[in-house]
Amino acid sequence: MAFETLIVDVEDHVGLIRLNRPEALNALNFQLLEELGEALAEMEASPRVRAVIVTGSEKAFAAGADVKDMAPKGFVEMFTEDRFTPETEAILSCRKPIIAAVAGYCLGGGCELAMMCDFIIAADTAKFGQPEINLGIIPGMGGTQRLTRVVGKSKAMEMCLTGRFMDAAEAERAGLVSRVVPARDLMRDARETAGKIAEKSPLTARAVKEAVNRSYETTLREGLLFERRLFHALFASEDKAEGMAAFAEKRSPQFRGR
Ligand code: HXC
Repeated sequence: MAFETLIVDVEDHVGLIRLNRPEALNALNFQLLEELGEALAEMEASPRVRAVIVTGSEKAFAAGADVKDMAPKGFVEMFTEDRFTPETEAILSCRKPIIAAVAGYCLGGGCELAMMCDFIIAADTAKFGQPEINLGIIPGMGGTQRLTRVVGKSKAMEMCLTGRFMDAAEAERAGLVSRVVPARDLMRDARETAGKIAEKSPLTARAVKEAVNRSYETTLREGLLFERRLFHALFASEDKAEGMAAFAEKRSPQFRGR
């Protein structure tokens, strides 16, 4: 499918979605969020895709929700339309691993989108922030909730109250990003990382994603039980038999997602 606000490509089992509104630093308007949901649904359905990268440009992953679109709207419109919720549900319902490869500005809804992905690899140029307070609003796609769970109350509160940006090194120290790489290496690194995931069993990768995400949703006791059940369930898979046979035979496993 052709998209106006995204550039989409699939190569070697890795789906790449590039946000593409350069005139607005990839600000997230409804069209972009809708197209992102559609692109991810296509990737979810395609057996060719085993991992997904979401990225932006060198200057901006995304500078937030589109302020120009939001400016004329009042409470009733935002509340009744609430296009952000269904569109983000589409992102969250993707069961394949999604990496956010972030360079430049990653602000407001952009930071929230990156946090909806499974992990973030940052270029050393990345700047993260929730500057909504400067517009007289608060984050609306999970910023106050996900940032707090990831970096803790003190830093999340400071970021949301002052609107200051966090650079890539601070984001790595705070656990917001898994790694920082030189900007020129970002896409190569993200592709290599996605490629490594694509070599694993897609079945097992889904189980990892479900189990790690569950840790945010439930108690430790329930989470441990959920993990244990998935762990046991994977012993029914062909990929488990293949993985363990390949280990014994000192060869690379050939996973088929069964
Ligand atoms: C619409 C935006 C935009 C945005 C940038 N642009 N951010 N348009 N929405 N969020 C546009 C600018 O208007 C400008 O267009 C062009 O992109 C280039 O931006 P500049 O400001 O000229 O670039 P620069 O001086 O380098 O500054 C970069 C910046 C700044 C620091 C990122 O653009 C900025 O502060 N942007 C807004 C960041 C923000 O407040 N984000 C939170 C949004 S609220 P023109 O046509 O003028 O050249 C949000 C809520 C989410 O995200 C809740 C969801 C439910």
